[in-house]
Amino acid sequence: MSFSIKSAERFSTVIEKSPYVVEDPLVKTQYVSKGQNIVFGRTLKGEDYSNLLYIGKILESTKGKSYLGADAWLDTTFPHVIYITGTRGSGKSFDLGVLVEGISKLGKSSPIQNDVKPITSIIIDTQSQFWTLGYEPREGIPANKAQLDELKRWNLEPNNLASAKIYTPPRSTKFLGTEQTLQIRPKDVRAEEWCALLGQEVYSSQGHIITATLENLGDSNFEIADMITYIANDRNWPAVAESSRNAICYKLDDYRRTNLFSANGLRIKDFLEEGTCNILALRELRNEDKSLITAVIARNLFDILGNHHNKKKTANFFQKPFDGDGTPDRIWLVIDEAHVVAPSDRISPARSALVEYVKRGRDAGLSLVLATQQPSALDDQILSQVNITFSHRLSFQSDINAVVNRIPTKAVRNMKYSGTSLSDFGDMVRVLDVGQCFLGDQASSRTVLLQIRPRVSAHGGYSPF
Ligand SMILES: Nc1ncnc2c1ncn2[C@@H]1O[C@H](COP(=O)(O)OP(=O)(O)O)[C@@H](O)[C@H]1O
Ligand SMILES: [Mg+2]
Repeated sequence: MSFSIKSAERFSTVIEKSPYVVEDPLVKTQYVSKGQNIVFGRTLKGEDYSNLLYIGKILESTKGKSYLGADAWLDTTFPHVIYITGTRGSGKSFDLGVLVEGISKLGKSSPIQNDVKPITSIIIDTQSQFWTLGYEPREGIPANKAQLDELKRWNLEPNNLASAKIYTPPRSTKFLGTEQTLQIRPKDVRAEEWCALLGQEVYSSQGHIITATLENLGDSNFEIADMITYIANDRNWPAVAESSRNAICYKLDDYRRTNLFSANGLRIKDFLEEGTCNILALRELRNEDKSLITAVIARNLFDILGNHHNKKKTANFFQKPFDGDGTPDRIWLVIDEAHVVAPSDRISPARSALVEYVKRGRDAGLSLVLATQQPSALDDQILSQVNITFSHRLSFQSDINAVVNRIPTKAVRNMKYSGTSLSDFGDMVRVLDVGQCFLGDQASSRTVLLQIRPRVSAHGGYSPF
């Protein structure tokens, strides 16, 4: 049953029995017995059940008091850092869709949102599969047919995002015809990001060339060609060998030809329409370019929302009215295949931007959602602020260890699966099926096993052709 009191909007029972029996009692959880609901991501205060998105049902039966079949909700008020892990095909991208559906403006009202104020989001769509969020699942498509049946089983109606915008880089395939072109302005890229992109240390002589060039071009809205012209001009570099400059010019010229950069490129402000979901379909880009785009977006978001909240706080302090410029109070940045964007084994443009984003994003209303199939290959510093984890099936011990370290509560210690006792959390994670995961948050005394709900909008992952 949902928080909704209209019987037509109640979710079906769906789960009546489960092969998973957890032996550790759930000592602390945010449980609302009326309607059997559990809230994750915040500690309940009084009867405020607003701003919750529906994520699925409790899949474990528990020794002592059991919550099997209860409805699971996630908070949307606080800035969160959500970490979703699992092998390929375990349901990570699907979860991202579930979360985005829950925070976005929908085509029609839906019980998957309990009084949710829509939140602007940006998806770093590394596989270009989220464009379907704007559409309802269709009977005629076999993959959608199964989804529609599943929705009926849960008593959920198909739905779609009311405002989903798709962006593709200049040379990528456009398949809808409504995509906007994604280009970034060279002036939005910092010296350290250029250096990471060109594979140079900031404090090397080539790093110095980049820094000095950007300083000279200053705040003007320049093109990559202007950077090259400046670097190639001998008079600007009395003490720097031509050969070091040439190497940078060649690399920059390579970037100029990708058309990914333009002085007329998007400004991050263009993404900040209230309640809109911005989908950046980046599949055809090189990994370092995906990383660069993520860096530029993360850092600009941080600057823009940080300023916005500072102004708002000051106005509040002096009890003055706050004239916002339309900047939303909150943003969710969603990154699929995060290990590609911020790998642990190499310098990437996104690394420092994301570390800063998570460290200071809380005050700026910024949430981050990361999904990865290779937890041990994702830069560890970015994970320092994770407060919610969705742990799907994993196989390798190194990945399992990396995940357990990040769970913000206790892992399960003893569980029976179809009668067999498991006492190692890794073994429990290994037996999970698609769409099942352990959810960890600070408001519960241990991780709880969930079945993720079906998607209400069409799920991508199949080719549009
Ligand atoms: N909660 C779920 N309910 C029903 N089907 C799901 C669920 N999660 C995943 N699936 C199915 O599994 C497939 C793979 O899921 P996906 O999220 O794309 O995996 P990955 O972990 O590789 O991102 C999906 O195309 C979908 O058919
Ligand atoms: Mg995926």
